[in-house]
Amino acid sequence: MRIILYLGKGGVGKTTTAAATALRCAQLGYRTLVASTDIAHSLADSLDMPLSDEPVQVAENLWAQEISVVADLQKNWGKLQDFTSNMIAGRGLSRVVADELSSFPGMDEVVCLLHINKQAKENNFDRVIIDAAPTGETIRLLTMPDTFSWYATHLSRFERGVIKAIKPFASRLLKAPSELLDTVYTLQKATEELRETLSDPEISSYRVVLQPEKMVMREAERAVSYLGLFGYPVDSVVVNRVMAADDAQGDFYQKKYETQQKYLGMINDNFTPLPIWEAPYYAEEVVGLEMLSRLAQDCFGDEDPGKIFYEGKVHEIIEQPDGGFLMRMPLPFVTGKDVKLRKRGDEMFITIGNFKREMILPTVLAKRRTGGGALADGVLEITFLPLESEEEAAVA
Ligand SMILES: Nc1ncnc2c1ncn2[C@@H]1O[C@H](COP(=O)(O)OP(=O)(O)OP(=O)(O)O)[C@@H](O)[C@H]1O
Ligand SMILES: [Mg+2]
Repeated sequence: MRIILYLGKGGVGKTTTAAATALRCAQLGYRTLVASTDIAHSLADSLDMPLSDEPVQVAENLWAQEISVVADLQKNWGKLQDFTSNMIAGRGLSRVVADELSSFPGMDEVVCLLHINKQAKENNFDRVIIDAAPTGETIRLLTMPDTFSWYATHLSRFERGVIKAIKPFASRLLKAPSELLDTVYTLQKATEELRETLSDPEISSYRVVLQPEKMVMREAERAVSYLGLFGYPVDSVVVNRVMAADDAQGDFYQKKYETQQKYLGMINDNFTPLPIWEAPYYAEEVVGLEMLSRLAQDCFGDEDPGKIFYEGKVHEIIEQPDGGFLMRMPLPFVTGKDVKLRKRGDEMFITIGNFKREMILPTVLAKRRTGGGALADGVLEITFLPLESEEEAAVA
């Protein structure tokens, strides 16, 4: 099984690209599921077919599903939530507030991914294409397995204390307090497995969808940076709504075309060595199987969009014994000796000869000064210095 997850800024064409990819995979003979995890589902609109929260067959080899986690949530998570909620409500807070407070933030999303994973295995899908919510939410979703494991580990560490503390309340709800911990363990185990699946480059790939525009590009850089940080394998970038030279008629469209060309150049530098796919800007909406099939052809040509397009890390961040960090970034096509770096907050601008890259740094690097960079054997290495003052260390 392969899982391909599309993410990107709101409205860039995630649902469209995910549906087009799934359709092409199905046409190539793979048993394919396209599932949307965005609460604001639009997969049904894109495929132009009614969908439900169970997989519905929409074409030969193709099933689609708009996940609703409510039932699953209640089954897996309800017990724990009810329990915490009752405990909080018992302390004089209203039920509404207690219910909100007792839901682990982001847990519903994890349950959603657990659901897809289970479904994919049970139904023997060869390809599972996920249409995710806009970037911020998706990144949060992908970091949830780690966060949850952290909570669960701490809970188990205080297990004895917890059981003692909850005994007076637990009897009202649970047969034994251990039932509560069992729920946590079951979820923790499933979440850890999920994390493994989602970061296994043999199984999962992440594709960032963007448009040749500044803000969209920035968000895509941030997404790639964070996916790299958490070890999720990005295998390509899809640039959607790319205008053809023939469309640049009249001042308005000429200017738009030129702006797009400028950003396309930057996108090339900013995402190398990831493969970059381009989908044209159509005059008509991309809705229904025929248009989706056309987009898949125009975007991927004769390539199989279900395969892994890039293997390897986009960057690696290695902690150094002196408290500093080393960032290693493969740039196989770049030549030049003189590496210039400029850092402004969490943005870093890299110049090597004609090559220019802008990138968004994760927090751990953003607050450090760089000690310079060097390119050797197609890999750029940038050092980040240890935090100097106590003030800096305290912030860290
Ligand atoms: N290349 C294209 N040419 C023309 N129209 C397009 C193209 N790609 C997408 N569209 C249209 O743009 C609209 C938004 O696309 P889509 O729903 O795929 O974006 P999204 O990133 O999933 O949005 P959201 O963040 O709201 O989920 C749709 O109506 C779709 O038909
Ligand atoms: Mg969408």
